Amino acid sequence: MNQPKPSLVVTRKLPDAVETRMMELFETKLNLDDRPFSKAELLEAVKSADVLVPTVTDTIDEEVVSAAGDQLKLIANFGNGVDHIDLAAANKKGIVVTNTPDVLTEDTADLTMALILMTPRRLGEGERILRAGEWTGWTPTYLMGRRINGKRLGIVGMGRIGSAVAQRARGFGLSVHYHNRNRLHEDAEAELEATYWESLDQMLAHMDIVSVNCPHTPATFHLLSARRLRLMQPDAIIVNTSRGSVIDEDALVQLLEAGGIAGAGLDVFEHEPAVHPKLLAMENVVLLPHVGSATFEGRIAMGEKVIVNIKSFIDGHAPPDRILETLL
Ligand code: 8YV
Repeated sequence: MNQPKPSLVVTRKLPDAVETRMMELFETKLNLDDRPFSKAELLEAVKSADVLVPTVTDTIDEEVVSAAGDQLKLIANFGNGVDHIDLAAANKKGIVVTNTPDVLTEDTADLTMALILMTPRRLGEGERILRAGEWTGWTPTYLMGRRINGKRLGIVGMGRIGSAVAQRARGFGLSVHYHNRNRLHEDAEAELEATYWESLDQMLAHMDIVSVNCPHTPATFHLLSARRLRLMQPDAIIVNTSRGSVIDEDALVQLLEAGGIAGAGLDVFEHEPAVHPKLLAMENVVLLPHVGSATFEGRIAMGEKVIVNIKSFIDGHAPPDRILETLL
């Protein structure tokens, strides 16, 4: 006899291929008009769904978790970062949480490199000038930026994405430095020709470019604090494709205003989709709308991962991307 299909609530519009497969496999409620769920809608969803498929735009806090009915057994997040989910509350309630690592590593690393190239070479500024019809022609000293080749890149968080950035950076002639909770195995370090800094403070003070690639957890909230940001060189730039909250955004704005660093390339913000109004007015800042993993290939692969996690869980296996207790 056929088992009843588990019921799924998907909070945002996903790629068509993913939605179709979800419809085939599960009793799926889609969000075709893609309006973000209100708190009330989230509370409603967790009361009826067996599986919730949220994204970074849903705050699954303690209130939402505790409102969940006993039938909710799995939160299968569409995305890698899970800082919008109260993992401890879910764990306490016996709800398994999964994410979608690996499949967005290369895209996010590409976007990080784009910011590393765009910011010192003033490419955003150049594009704005040209589109505004303000370009009057080539001159020997026009729109000069800073060379990338030969500079030092300090990667904060040498996980999958950090390592993929390191690989790319070497091709651009950057020397790779990193700070991480745990030092890499010596073979991995040798392969990336990466220099380990146990002290984040000391690394920040010696880098030309700093790239934030660690996840946002309680331990990394405002890791790049006002004090730490001030350790950076006035010619240095910082890029962030991780989560806005890893950098104290107000402190960053103040430092940029004061000329304490040369620029910033940001794909993520502390209060998304709001962007600090002062950042919007700064020419030395490149701003992107959280598009690190926004490729057709990446988003379909993320959806497939969500499906594999749900399917394995439903079939009684350990879902491959269960968030480990160590993150709690
Ligand atoms: C995703 C991201 O687009 O996966 C992540 O953590 O930051 C993004 O690349 C987003 O989280 C989807 O929920």
